Amino acid sequence: MKVCVFGAGYVGLVTAACMVEMGNSVFCVDIDAARIAGLQSGHLPIHEPGLAEMVLRNAQANRLHFTTDAASAVVYGTIVFTAVGTPAAQDGSADLAHVLAAAATIGGHMLECKFIVNKSTVPVGTAERVRLAAADALRRRTALLPFAVVSNLEFLKEARPSSSRRGRRCAAGRDGVAPVPQPRLRAAAQVDAHAGAVRRPQPVRAAGGGYVGVRVPGHRAGQHRPVACGRR
Ligand SMILES: NC(=O)c1ccc[n+]([C@@H]2O[C@H](COP(=O)([O-])OP(=O)(O)OC[C@H]3O[C@@H](n4cnc5c(N)ncnc54)[C@H](O)[C@@H]3O)[C@@H](O)[C@H]2O)c1
Repeated sequence: MKVCVFGAGYVGLVTAACMVEMGNSVFCVDIDAARIAGLQSGHLPIHEPGLAEMVLRNAQANRLHFTTDAASAVVYGTIVFTAVGTPAAQDGSADLAHVLAAAATIGGHMLECKFIVNKSTVPVGTAERVRLAAADALRRRTALLPFAVVSNLEFLKEARPSSSRRGRRCAAGRDGVAPVPQPRLRAAAQVDAHAGAVRRPQPVRAAGGGYVGVRVPGHRAGQHRPVACGRR
C-alpha cells in the first residue's frame, strides 16, 4: 500500500520506517527543508537504535522517500499519517496549528479518497477539527471527494522503534464519509484497529499516558500532562 507520513520527527520517522518494513511504500513529507535534505543524504535528525539502518536500507531500495513537496506526497498516499508536532501553548493546551495545517494541505491536494490517520497527541475532539479543515480545503477547490479521519494514537517506547511494529499498544477509531478503513489500516499498519467512534482512542491514550506518569515519576519530564486530555 502507498503511505504518506506528515512529519519527519520522532514519531513520523518511526512510523515511516515501520510502515515500509511491513511492505508498504512511503513518502515522508516535512516543511523543514534542512531536515529533509539531511534525510535525503542519509543523515537522521534523531537517534533511535536500529532506526538509521531501517531508514537507509529502505531509502536505498526506493521504498522510502523524503520530500518537502506536500502535494505529491498527498497524491501518492492512500493512507496519510499525520505525525506533526503539537507544542504546548501558553495555557498548557496542545497547539494544533501544525495538525490543522497538515489537514488543510491534505484537503488542498487530494485527488481521490484518503484515510487521514492522526498520530499526533491531541485533545479529544481534534478529529472533528481535522475533518473540518480538510473539508474546508476541499470546498475551496469545489472538489467533492470522500475521506475518513482515523485516530491511531500509540504508546511508543522511546529507543524502541520496533514497539511501533507490534501493535500491542495502539488504539484506532474512525469517522468520516469514506468506507470503513480498518481492514486497510490494519493491512498497512498491523495496528490493533478498533471499530468505533474516532474519539474513543483519545481518552485511551490519555489514560495510558497518565498511567505511565504515575508509574514512572519524571517520565519525559516537562512533557507529560495526563490532566490535559491527549498530551503525552
Ligand atoms: N516523541 C514521542 O515519543 C511521541 C510519542 C507519542 C506521541 N507523540 C506525539 O507525536 C507528535 C509528533 O511528535 P515528534 O516527537 O515526532 O515531534 P517532532 O517535533 O520531533 O517532529 C514533528 C515534525 O513535524 C514537522 N511539521 C510540522 N508541521 C508540518 C506540516 N504542516 N507538514 C509537514 N511537516 C510538518 C516538523 O517540521 C517536525 O519535523 C506530537 O504530537 C507528539 O506529542 C510523540
